Amino acid sequence: MFDSETELGFGTYSLVGDEGSAVIETALETGYRHIDTARLYGNESEVGDAIAASDVDRDDLFVATKVAHFEEPEKTPEYVRTAIDESLERLGLDRIDLVYHHWPRNQEEIETVLPVLEEYVETGAVANLGVSNYTVDDLSLARDLVDISIAANQVEMHPLLQQTKLREHLRDTETQLVAYSPLAQGEVFDQDAVLAVAEKHDISPAVVSLAWLLSKDGVAAIPRTSSVDHLRDNYRAKALELNPEDVKRIDAIDRTHRCEDPSWMSW
Ligand SMILES: NC(=O)c1ccc[n+]([C@@H]2O[C@H](COP(=O)([O-])OP(=O)(O)OC[C@H]3O[C@@H](n4cnc5c(N)ncnc54)[C@H](OP(=O)(O)O)[C@@H]3O)[C@@H](O)[C@H]2O)c1
Repeated sequence: MFDSETELGFGTYSLVGDEGSAVIETALETGYRHIDTARLYGNESEVGDAIAASDVDRDDLFVATKVAHFEEPEKTPEYVRTAIDESLERLGLDRIDLVYHHWPRNQEEIETVLPVLEEYVETGAVANLGVSNYTVDDLSLARDLVDISIAANQVEMHPLLQQTKLREHLRDTETQLVAYSPLAQGEVFDQDAVLAVAEKHDISPAVVSLAWLLSKDGVAAIPRTSSVDHLRDNYRAKALELNPEDVKRIDAIDRTHRCEDPSWMSW
């Protein structure tokens, strides 16, 4: 699903109002073609405004949103249908490229939400079904529940959380991994291995982390920034191919850090 144009996406959490939509528009001008939002972020209209204002052809864009986060009210099929209909309206689109089930609290929510997403893929209003924060067990349940491909599982991944087990599970499946918090919300900037590779190539630690993620098969990444300088910097990761020695050096980081870790989750 993701290709060289879309594997580096643009995360939009906290980008709201006119300022938020201006940053998203600059990301589109810079060359980002994959925009990641969510009902929970309260900024789908800002994403819609940026798309409408930009010169980029709709067909060249990949727009992803998410519905049904555990913080949202009780999930029913009707709630999920309304959420997707409202996302379509706020984004100003007649088709969303990818809709994720944002974060299930339990198996029951998976059983409620996924069939509705499948329904929307069948009507064509959603092009691909995605899941997010799904464990290996959740993915197995999901595959039993729907007859269509699970195109992506969006989970936290960065040099301090390398998701080796999950990537092994996804190998040879149709499901791609989309790495959220790909900079560990800044935590990667102090890592010796990341700093050493950055210094060697005269690039920023952010670019190193993103290029490391993109070096992995089937992995896309969605860094977030409110800064035009940072979004331009991060975009450099697309063109950077780390050599195997650099990749190994980062693979060897022996630390596990999660930015998102509710106490009830059994990863
Ligand atoms: N599915 C889920 O449950 C889930 C959960 C969390 C996040 N997400 C998605 O993932 C996206 C990214 O994750 P995130 O926001 O948690 O963290 P992140 O992308 O790892 O880090 C964002 C932080 O890094 C800074 N930054 C970005 N580029 C930089 C650069 N080149 N140099 C220095 N600092 C830089 C940003 O500050 P500045 O603004 O100052 O640049 C911001 O404070 C979110 O926007 C959202 O779309 C999804």
